[in-house]
Amino acid sequence: MKKIGIIYGSTTGNTENIAKSIAEKLSSEEVHSIEVSQLKQEDLEAFPNLILGTSTWGVGDLQDDWEGALDVLKKSDLTGKKIALFGLGDSDSYPATFVDGMGTLYETIQNKGCSVIGSFSVDGYRFDGSKAVKDNAFVGLALDEDGESNLTESRISKWISDILPQFQ
Ligand SMILES: Cc1cc2nc3c(=O)[nH]c(=O)nc-3n(C[C@H](O)[C@H](O)[C@H](O)COP(=O)(O)O)c2cc1C
Repeated sequence: MKKIGIIYGSTTGNTENIAKSIAEKLSSEEVHSIEVSQLKQEDLEAFPNLILGTSTWGVGDLQDDWEGALDVLKKSDLTGKKIALFGLGDSDSYPATFVDGMGTLYETIQNKGCSVIGSFSVDGYRFDGSKAVKDNAFVGLALDEDGESNLTESRISKWISDILPQFQ
């Protein structure tokens, strides 16, 4: 069994629900979910595989609890870890900053010796700009529970079939 930590920050519960759904789909593995306001450095360092999830607030801001935990993420030794990201946003109301929070997480971990896995095609999404797009793909799974919740299940399943074999 692969040991996987899911760390999520959620203001109104959408990201929390998605974290639960991802955990259910990974139930054949050893999965631990942690709400990010409870996050400790030793928790992060205990998992060889991590899934980090955030929503976006304000105009392109990281979810509030993640803001507080960003220092923990920066301080942690992530060397050799496999890390997958997911982000929630609203592409209709915030087309210029769609899932920017996920982009902030990516920028925070990208040079810390870990492998960021699970990039996701932008095909089928409608938005104008996103800090979470690098080389024409999202740096992780982008979800829109406000306007495209009908696509969520299939997007999660596709993404998990990509990341699970890459976890160690
Ligand atoms: C005041 C406000 C600001 C938001 N800003 C953004 C934004 O800049 N970009 C984006 O993609 N989504 C934005 N959203 C949408 C949220 O990220 C989305 O509703 C998300 O599902 C909330 O997840 P949570 O309940 O887990 O926090 C915003 C929503 C609100 C209400």
